[in-house]
Amino acid sequence: MNSKITAIGVYAPEKRITNAYFESIIDTNDEWIVTRTGIRERRFAADDQFTSDLCIQAAKNLAADNKGVTLDDVDFIIVSTTTADQVMPNTASQIQNGLGMQNAGCIDIMAACAGFVYGLVLAKGLVAAGTHKKILVFGAETLSKFTDYTDRTSCILFGDGAGVALVEPSDRSKLFNAVTGADGSHGKDLYLSQSSNRVINGEYIEANGKIHQNGKVVFKWAIQTVSARIRELLAKNNMQLSDLDWIILHSANMRIIEGVATEIGCPIEKMLSSIEYYGNTSSASIPLAWNIARTEGKIKPGNKILMLGFGGGLTFAGVIVEV
Ligand code: UT7
Repeated sequence: MNSKITAIGVYAPEKRITNAYFESIIDTNDEWIVTRTGIRERRFAADDQFTSDLCIQAAKNLAADNKGVTLDDVDFIIVSTTTADQVMPNTASQIQNGLGMQNAGCIDIMAACAGFVYGLVLAKGLVAAGTHKKILVFGAETLSKFTDYTDRTSCILFGDGAGVALVEPSDRSKLFNAVTGADGSHGKDLYLSQSSNRVINGEYIEANGKIHQNGKVVFKWAIQTVSARIRELLAKNNMQLSDLDWIILHSANMRIIEGVATEIGCPIEKMLSSIEYYGNTSSASIPLAWNIARTEGKIKPGNKILMLGFGGGLTFAGVIVEV
């Protein structure tokens, strides 16, 4: 059984945080943040707003924007998040309850910024197995609740948001071959530890519930890994760069997107991002970028989009879709 993405929806919290906010709490400035990351703003969830709340609103927006789409007959919910409301119950179950989807299987997956694409790969597998027909794949985070506001190299990066894709059977495949993988030896370079102080590859992991990142190491790994995996993904699908209309990488830093574009020889105009007004939203960044381009009228029916997420783990996952 083939599959395709039939609709997407997003939601970002209302609270806008400009770079000026960080000038008031740490030693930084708007110029550094814009030139080193491409970020001008990010959104923060309210104190009483959590990842499942963002997901529920994103799903409602999907239904509102796509006439005829009903959600009560969704049969599986996959949520990619590293910032769940709580460990148990999982986020997917809270969405199922909030939206009244009585017969949906519910799982959360943790693959950080690669998680949304991992979710699409799993959904494709469930449809192919013939066991499920209507799957919601969420990428959602409330990173602002897990940010270390004393660390100026990381706190300026993160924002909150949610995106969701509806995956359904299709007469021909529009969710093409994927690449997935990880390099766990780099676990120490990007982590959020709640309970276990460990040493990974000689580096101490502090279980303080805050995000820690060795930015320079991840930056270098990202450009090399992402460029190589885009080439692998194209080869796996027997495609050339010219067959793609758009590339959506995880929006971690505009300089990573520019670096990869240079490395693979892709015009920067083909690279879509959500970095400027949402910051790094981890799992949510790819659907947010898709939605920005969609509302700007860039993405058209029949377009082919390569999506590739990368992040904590360090994990990566990429897939090519036809819209
Ligand atoms: O989402 C998952 C994947 N994550 C990523 O892919 C993130 C990858 N890493 C990055 O995006 C970048 O490494 C950062 C944005 C995190 C940092 O940018 P950078 O260009 O690598 O900066 P750096 O850490 O090399 O620091 C350069 C300078 C340092 O000053 P000195 O030592 O040269 O005097 C830092 O202290 O910039 C300084 N600096 C800042 N200055 C003003 C670091 N953070 C700030 C800041 N404001 N917020």
